[in-house]
Amino acid sequence: MSLATAYWNSQIFLTAHRIGLFSLLAKTAKTSEQIAIALNTKPRPTALLLNACVALGILEKDREYYKNAPSTEFFLVPGSPAFMGNAISYSDDLYETWGKLEQCLREDKPMLPPAEYLGSDVEKTRHFVYGMHNRAMGTASALVNLVDLGDRRQLLDVGGGPSTYSCMFAGRYPELKSKVLDLPGIVAHANDIISSMGKQHQVSTLPGDYHTTEFPEDNDVVLISGVFHRESEQDCRKLINKAADSLNSGGMLIISDVFADMGCCSPVFATLFAVNMALTAENGGIHADADVMKWMADAGFTGLEIKKFPPPMPHRLIAGYKQ
Ligand SMILES: C[S@@+](CC[C@H](N)C(=O)[O-])C[C@H]1O[C@@H](n2cnc3c(N)ncnc32)[C@H](O)[C@@H]1O
Repeated sequence: MSLATAYWNSQIFLTAHRIGLFSLLAKTAKTSEQIAIALNTKPRPTALLLNACVALGILEKDREYYKNAPSTEFFLVPGSPAFMGNAISYSDDLYETWGKLEQCLREDKPMLPPAEYLGSDVEKTRHFVYGMHNRAMGTASALVNLVDLGDRRQLLDVGGGPSTYSCMFAGRYPELKSKVLDLPGIVAHANDIISSMGKQHQVSTLPGDYHTTEFPEDNDVVLISGVFHRESEQDCRKLINKAADSLNSGGMLIISDVFADMGCCSPVFATLFAVNMALTAENGGIHADADVMKWMADAGFTGLEIKKFPPPMPHRLIAGYKQ
């Protein structure tokens, strides 16, 4: 029954976020009636939703007053440096898509056409890019501690999305320059994010398609983060080979993603994420880290190692060096 009703939790949380409940309660407590008036909702179901939010630990209640739980205040109120609201909105965008899972199984095609969140639908694209940025503020600050770029000078960030990773590396290594290759509709937002992080002198963007655009040469590091979960083995191998060709001798390739264990039946999050990717990308799914390591070895990379991000982050990276 927990599995059968798990979407109740999601929908309560997503709806509360969508109607602006957590912003309304930023640093303030309100009664159910006050909340219903402010959000233009009906008092009776609003009170039921608020009580469920308390039970789920999202809100706290003191007498008749509701307020954000500390983690809600930290992650879900706009303006907080840890704000995750766009990532939550992107999950909300995918709710109807998940309802088409059976059709996805029968047709083997994404139920949300990738073009929609990769440029053509303005709102979905914004949620996607800023959602990645929200998440990357956490994962990138872990990644910069997992690899040592020493005195490397030029980074190529393939499918770099919002550019958050490149900006974080630029902050850690003031001599490092980075080029972020991504689709034109994404790069438009990335340029704003780079400026907002004050890294426009170190990080630049390169609009293109990583399948067809030639990688710029003379790189000391190539980062491919969050890309392999939308690509087939054949295309992942091609990207590894393109990265190898673009690296200087001794250059480092970092591939970071949600990877599965050998056999792809664990960890749980990775297996669920694989289904999410099947619903949202042509070749979406999950790869095992050991397989990716083998593909890198086949392409001539040495000194290969796998590192796990600190929990609860589900990401892992594989790093290797060009001879
Ligand atoms: C999950 S995001 C990862 C973003 C970022 N690297 C990170 O880890 O936060 C995947 C990125 O790949 C980009 N992408 C997808 N297909 C692409 C293509 N054919 N050429 C270039 N970029 C592509 C998407 O626009 C998106 O920014």
